[in-house]
Formats: sequence, structure tokens, C-alpha cells
Amino acid sequence: MRVKKNTIKVWDEVWSDVGLDTEDISILEVERATIRWSRIKTRLSKEFGNLKNLKVIEIGSGIGTYAALLASEGAKSTLLDYSPKALKRAKEFFKNNKLKAEYVLGDALDFPQQIKKNGIAIIIVPNKYNPPYRIYKFISEFFGTWKFGEEYPYSRKELKDICINSNHELISIFASC
Ligand SMILES: C[S@@+](CC[C@H](N)C(=O)[O-])C[C@H]1O[C@@H](n2cnc3c(N)ncnc32)[C@H](O)[C@@H]1O
Repeated sequence: MRVKKNTIKVWDEVWSDVGLDTEDISILEVERATIRWSRIKTRLSKEFGNLKNLKVIEIGSGIGTYAALLASEGAKSTLLDYSPKALKRAKEFFKNNKLKAEYVLGDALDFPQQIKKNGIAIIIVPNKYNPPYRIYKFISEFFGTWKFGEEYPYSRKELKDICINSNHELISIFASC
């Protein structure tokens, strides 16, 4: 059971497989209907008022589903990803949903100037206590079909400790299961 390192090549392969741009509109609408989006939108609206013209960046964007949802509310979205294939697919995704964004090809660990002070970071990670996810990942890794490279799930406590130890204020932790 060997998991590949998380590299540009690994993600380029993942995004080469995600092709069906005829589904782009429904992908966005399905995500728009989730509790997760409703919580994010409520929180951002409470903090910043109108989302119109709010500057947001989705780091490790992939196709940028959340940047797209925010753009559809009038925010100015930037997508940052180190995989050229991810950004290529993201551009199609935005075009098909009639949305605009800025695209930055680069390593998130090398872009500290993109992060503004006094903002909110929304961190979406796999939940350590989500049995279906853990079983699926274990079986995929066992049979060598896991294609996302290294991926580590977190518990609420671990996330809380990371925030406290890095001097960030923790607003809330929302577990989707
Ligand atoms: C699981 S996808 C997340 C896609 C999307 N943000 C979402 O929540 O559905 C992770 C993305 O992060 C990108 N990524 C991973 N490490 C990165 C890094 N160091 N710099 C930039 N992008 C990175 C990968 O290329 C991939 O597209």
C-alpha cells in the first residue's frame, strides 16, 4: 500500500480525467444547494455584508467550485493552483457557467503575498471521523486505485489546536457528518 506524493503530476492526471464540461452547470448548482455553501455564505455575509466585489482566493482551487459560487454572488474571485490541467479545466468551468475569475498558476506554499490580513480563511478538509470516507480511502489505497496523492483527514480537536497554535482566531468548525 504505497501512496504517491502530492505533486503537480499527480493532480494533472486527476484533472485530465475530469472532462465532462456538459455537467459544469449542474456541478455548480448541486454545490449551491449544500449546507456547506449555505454556512459559508451566511458567515461571509455576516462578516463582510454584501459579497459583491469581495476579493476572494481559492487556494488549491481545482476547478474552483467555491470561487465560482462566490463569483456568482458578485465577488472578485482568484483561483490558485499548481496544476496547469486544473486551471485549464477551471477556465472551461467558469466559461460554461458564464463567470469570470483571475487564474494564478503557482505553489500555494510560495504565495504568502496573496493572503491578506484581517480576512477569513475557510479550510475544507476530510473529516477523520467520517467512516465511509475512511473505508473508501483505505480500500482504494489497498488496491492502488487512490489517485489523489497524500491526503490527511483531521478531527475537530486537531483543527482547533492548529488554529490556536498558529495565533488565528477560530470562528467555528462545521463537520458535515
Ligand atoms: C482536492 S483538490 C481541491 C479542489 C477544490 N478546492 C475543492 O475544494 O473541491 C486539491 C487541489 O489543490 C491543488 N494543490 C495541492 N497542493 C498545492 C500547492 N502546494 N499549491 C497549489 N495548488 C495545490 C491540487 O492541484 C488540486 O487541484
